[in-house]
Amino acid sequence: MFFFLHTTLTLTSPYYLSNKNQLSPVSAKAGAGSRSVVAMAGTGKFVVGGNWKCNGNSKSIAKLVKDLNAGEITADVEVICAPPMVYLPKVQSTLDRKYQLAAQNCWVGAGGAFTGEIAAEMLVDANIPWVILGHSERRALCGETDEFVGKKTKYALDAGLSVMACIGETLDEREAGQTLAVCTRQLQAICNEITETDWAKVVIAYEPVWAIGTGKVASPEQAQDVHAGIRAFVSKAVSQRVASAVRIQYGGSVNAGNCEALAKQEDIDGFLVGGASLVGSDFVTICNAARFNN
Ligand code: PGA
Repeated sequence: MFFFLHTTLTLTSPYYLSNKNQLSPVSAKAGAGSRSVVAMAGTGKFVVGGNWKCNGNSKSIAKLVKDLNAGEITADVEVICAPPMVYLPKVQSTLDRKYQLAAQNCWVGAGGAFTGEIAAEMLVDANIPWVILGHSERRALCGETDEFVGKKTKYALDAGLSVMACIGETLDEREAGQTLAVCTRQLQAICNEITETDWAKVVIAYEPVWAIGTGKVASPEQAQDVHAGIRAFVSKAVSQRVASAVRIQYGGSVNAGNCEALAKQEDIDGFLVGGASLVGSDFVTICNAARFNN
């Protein structure tokens, strides 16, 4: 759909098409601002989210839960599954405790006359500890603005949730050399709302829109480059301490085959996985790629 094979891409650094599913930089460069140049290096665990999106039914979800429960998960990873809202209680009562749970969205404020919405307090009340906010599908399809996502993030954190906050550029933006400008604009809107302390409960999910659900994964170097840029931005916009500690997930066509190379990148601290999170054994492999992260 994106005509990658017929397009000359103009990116922040020169790229070539290494194969039909991957864009690669001509020369991998160590990103300025990567964790190695940030004082107090050292973070929490590798963190993998499974974003089930609007997929599944009672039968397929029961099978997925069974397959996930059967999987051996390394102690080196924190795993969070995000089923569709209506299946959350069932998954909560059947999924092994080695997995935490997230909602895929919540409202920007307290509950009330907001038909179809779920308040952050309801998730807390239902013992759901995490929420995914600002996913590109919600930004693009539901009109969520940077400011709205920033306010949602603050509200969810104040209610007691932890947040996987999604950012990422479209293909047009990448081709225009706007990748970091877009990511930092989206992040700035979150920085405008939350305090330095709040960051302890935020994971950043960098998900290039052109890689989501397309099978076109960012190359490890390409993802590392952006992650390092994001970390450098956080260092300036928030603090070195937060930049060093904040976990940055990569999302966009992560699968059982490409997760190892991605996990080896210095500034990749986890994944947010869509399609492959619906296949229990693949998702378990992706979670265990944490072993390759050091
Ligand atoms: P994908 O989705 O793994 O299917 O590309 C990732 C996401 O949207 O979180």
